[in-house]
Amino acid sequence: MDDHTPAVPVRLRLARRIGTANPRLFGSFVEHLGRGVYGGLFAPDDPSATPEGFRGDVLELVRELGVTVVRYPGGNFVSGYDWRDGIGPRDARPRRLDLAWKTIEPNIFGTDEFVAWCRHAGVEPMLALNLGLGDTRSALDLLEYANYPGGTTLSDARVANGSPEPHDVRLWCLGNEADGRWQLGHRSAAAYAEHAAVTAAAMRRFDPALELVVVGSSHERMPTFGAWEREVLTRTIDLVDHLSCHIYFYDEGDRARFLRSSDVLDRFLDDVAATIAHVRAATRSERDIRISLDEWNVWNYTSYDEIEPHRVFEEAPRILEETYTLADAVVVGTLLQSILRHADVVAVAAMAQLVNVIGPIRAEPGRPAWRQTTFHPFAAVARSAGHTVLDTLPDTLLDTAADATGGADATCVVTVSPGGDHALVHLANRSTSTVTDIALDLRELAPRVVEHAELLWAPDPTATNTADDPDAVVPRPLDTRLDDGTLALRLPPVSWATVRIGCATGSG
Ligand code: AHR
Repeated sequence: MDDHTPAVPVRLRLARRIGTANPRLFGSFVEHLGRGVYGGLFAPDDPSATPEGFRGDVLELVRELGVTVVRYPGGNFVSGYDWRDGIGPRDARPRRLDLAWKTIEPNIFGTDEFVAWCRHAGVEPMLALNLGLGDTRSALDLLEYANYPGGTTLSDARVANGSPEPHDVRLWCLGNEADGRWQLGHRSAAAYAEHAAVTAAAMRRFDPALELVVVGSSHERMPTFGAWEREVLTRTIDLVDHLSCHIYFYDEGDRARFLRSSDVLDRFLDDVAATIAHVRAATRSERDIRISLDEWNVWNYTSYDEIEPHRVFEEAPRILEETYTLADAVVVGTLLQSILRHADVVAVAAMAQLVNVIGPIRAEPGRPAWRQTTFHPFAAVARSAGHTVLDTLPDTLLDTAADATGGADATCVVTVSPGGDHALVHLANRSTSTVTDIALDLRELAPRVVEHAELLWAPDPTATNTADDPDAVVPRPLDTRLDDGTLALRLPPVSWATVRIGCATGSG
């Protein structure tokens, strides 16, 4: 790309003030799956290992990524997991078959290790309960083990296991993807709703202030999507705080369509929010139920379906180790824009997952951990935690077909810091072929100076970062102009940019 490349002009202005970006929108997810935990979070033989055996370089990258909350231990895994297997002296912990992912689970890492890891990483733990093959009693026992200060057999066991303070976990998932036939303990909406309601009611007796997440749809193409939410929420609305939903995207051979994945997420979140509103009206409930988008990402899950029948049970297999491209990173950035655009209805979001397994971080034994392409847009957008989110719109009525195309390909969300002293502009060009010249009218924010501008781009949209070349796709300085309150910049096809603007007033 050079200055002579023909470009589509796109004029944008600030539009709707959506709400505050809850820091929990920048969550992640760690499952006992492949090398996510063993070799990812936990690698006692790694040169960077902490005294607890956590991979130190991974911890550093997690902090840099800006992750705020991490969901654990699954995922499909949790529906067959007995949390008791993962506590106490390590040499007494059982080795078990995990039937969800066809793995041997050594149980070296469990709830206490996870919470300790969260404290190191500076993130909030979000625990998922086994409401698949597990019962309410076992869920309540975990709650008591984790959160009761001491003086009962379960809480004293936690103390004896090295955690004198309660773990004080606030966010609890009432199972995982119960709507999916692949789920251990899969059941009908009515049966799941009853199980979740009974468990939630008992948990509230322990602590009415817990935040409980009831299971919604595994993705928007589920045949039960919509009906499942209606039935489950109608039974549980007065007992829970959040309704979960999951979504994954991959390039099915049509890159242009793949790059528009955020349109699908926009619609999905709108539909889940509408279903919540419908159930609230129909039940006359006063509850302010929010969405927990607790699994989202780019993941070609169909490739796993092909290898799965041929696998044998083994420990920490190399599965779901997706290597992400520049195009994947642009999609991740635009999915984050969609999450920001729904900041008024989404309370929690977790990119799935964190390390090695469909994660923004990769780690190999004996090599420094590295940032995948998708790391970069996440780290950029996570800096908007706590900001006010503003949507943008085309500045004028579109008058040419080229405007219309360019306008739809260019996506932009602006966030303003709590004091209004700076704004972050997150932009993408989703076109596979068109260069876009953006002019964004920011006058309302009294923009003063461009403090930082970075572009994530490479000539080849399939470019990746690897152990040998970890910085092939990294943000590089972007030329911008700020004239009379309008920010001007050029975006090549398949690119992502973030610009930080210093503002003169606290108008945000
Ligand atoms: O993140 C991988 C898997 O995707 C999770 O275990 C499951 O909840 C979802 O189907």
